[in-house]
Amino acid sequence: MLKKLTILLAVASIAASNITLINAQERLSTPLFEYNAINHPVIGRKGMVASHNALSSEITAEIMRKGGNAIDAGAALGFALAVTLPRAGNIGGGGFMLVHVAKLNKTIAVDFREFAPAAAHKDMFFDEEGNVSNAEYRFTHKSSAVPGSVAGLAHIVEKYGTMTLAEVLEPAIRLARDGIIVTYDLAADLDRSERLRNNPAALKKFYKPDGSNYEVGELFKQPDLAWTLSEIAEHGVDAFYKGSVAKKIVADMEAHNGLITMADLAAYKVIEREPVRGTYRGYEIAASPAPSSGGTHVIQMLNILENFPLAEMGPGSSSALHITAEAMKLAYADRSKYLGDPDFIDIPTDALVDKGYAKSLAASISMDKATPSEEIAPGNLAIYESDETTHYSVMDSEGNMVGNTYTLMFSFGSGVVIEGTGILMNNNIGNFTLRPDIPDAFGLMGSEDNMIHPYRRPVSSMSPIIVSKDGKPFFMTGTPGGSKIISANMQMVLNVLEYGMNIADASVTPRIHHQWYPAELQVESGISPDTVSLLRQKGHTVVFSPGMGSLQSIMWQDGLFYGYSDPRRPGAKAVGVE
Ligand code: DON
Repeated sequence: MLKKLTILLAVASIAASNITLINAQERLSTPLFEYNAINHPVIGRKGMVASHNALSSEITAEIMRKGGNAIDAGAALGFALAVTLPRAGNIGGGGFMLVHVAKLNKTIAVDFREFAPAAAHKDMFFDEEGNVSNAEYRFTHKSSAVPGSVAGLAHIVEKYGTMTLAEVLEPAIRLARDGIIVTYDLAADLDRSERLRNNPAALKKFYKPDGSNYEVGELFKQPDLAWTLSEIAEHGVDAFYKGSVAKKIVADMEAHNGLITMADLAAYKVIEREPVRGTYRGYEIAASPAPSSGGTHVIQMLNILENFPLAEMGPGSSSALHITAEAMKLAYADRSKYLGDPDFIDIPTDALVDKGYAKSLAASISMDKATPSEEIAPGNLAIYESDETTHYSVMDSEGNMVGNTYTLMFSFGSGVVIEGTGILMNNNIGNFTLRPDIPDAFGLMGSEDNMIHPYRRPVSSMSPIIVSKDGKPFFMTGTPGGSKIISANMQMVLNVLEYGMNIADASVTPRIHHQWYPAELQVESGISPDTVSLLRQKGHTVVFSPGMGSLQSIMWQDGLFYGYSDPRRPGAKAVGVE
């Protein structure tokens, strides 16, 4: 094994020294683990986990060491993060998973997105003058859609796992009951989330009895959450959707003008969907379909970019960044018009990911000049008819994979904790379009098809991504970041497949983002001032912006696992299984 690694490293370092002399196709055929790279992934032989919380990654790796598969581990991690990373890990929210089930050789897109309660309607946040109160829309009991996380995590373990639901809940129950040591990340989060103090149950849960903050190194216990998780372990998902927990959720909703009823909770359903699929330079890509826009537009952007020799231009060059930004604008414009809940409208996914359509969009890109956003409109598809989320990736030696992006929407969601349960509720109602002329909470435009409607799921940007070669898994990734999820995931794929970077370099490299509106090209610090001035000369309105996602990635190559947690947020960790 060591010998194999040494040979790999030797080959890689020779390849690395010639890196500017080989073309994209040749790069892809060289090992991506380079001894001379600037950033290095973690290596594992029997599996890998990458998540936003080091303790949770360690616990998940331990489950796999003891014989659990990646699906058991992925479900356990989802519950554990609800305890260790309360700003985003959750049981009161929802999301999208890609689960690769090795024995079926099948990748399944699991939609556990929240839906709007039956009593929700499109005018519910407007006053008589047509104004919207953001506080009511974002930070009240009405901000919550019906949560899907418990159903989603239980679904994968009960259908494709080897452990029981109670077994995968055990680490989360233990952490909530016995407490976790407060990390820098958690202390800083709670310190800046003043609005948690506005809700009495959240104040009780997240602060000391005298109202002061938990300090780094102190023990933080969540007894109510331990009760909720234990009820689910004992009585199954029905505890949450029909039983003791459901009753507490509904009582709290009724006491505070919330809309979620027992009937809404009982109606919640996880939906298995076919992933949206595409290719980039011969590699296969699977991602989450609608109601997430994440997969469709990553593939659409890659299809556009495939028409340009980006590797020859060089990663980070103004020409490559210019073209990448132009592709982003075109895709985000289409997102505003065509995406919605597929259970309510027809979505032209095949047309959006059509290579011919992408070619026509590519032809509209000028090499020298940025097209102003107001000159871009959602494309005509007729002729082609053919601050918080978290992502984690888990993979085992049988080839099972779980990529999960789930969210409460904002950091700590609506800030509402359901009395007696420790459940922090989502504010994903904010991903609906209030009116087509009003951007959503992330500045994204949407159509009437994404307006609030009973049982409708709001359009999301969340999508885990799995890249394979000849049907064999190659790497997986995913990220939080609201509207920037799509552009960050796409740049990760591009950095690996086009520029031949290992997953560590591919994650760290500064990113850019353009979502059509606002009409500005956002860049991270690290893009050189010279490059910025060249981009400005091409007509881009460049602004510096932090927070372009946080990728949690795993690559599988030549029998080894390579994991990497983006350093953009503190406390994340990739852990290999030996
Ligand atoms: O579904 C969506 O697209 C958003 N609710 C995601 C929110 C998010 O990523 C916030 N995080 N950083």
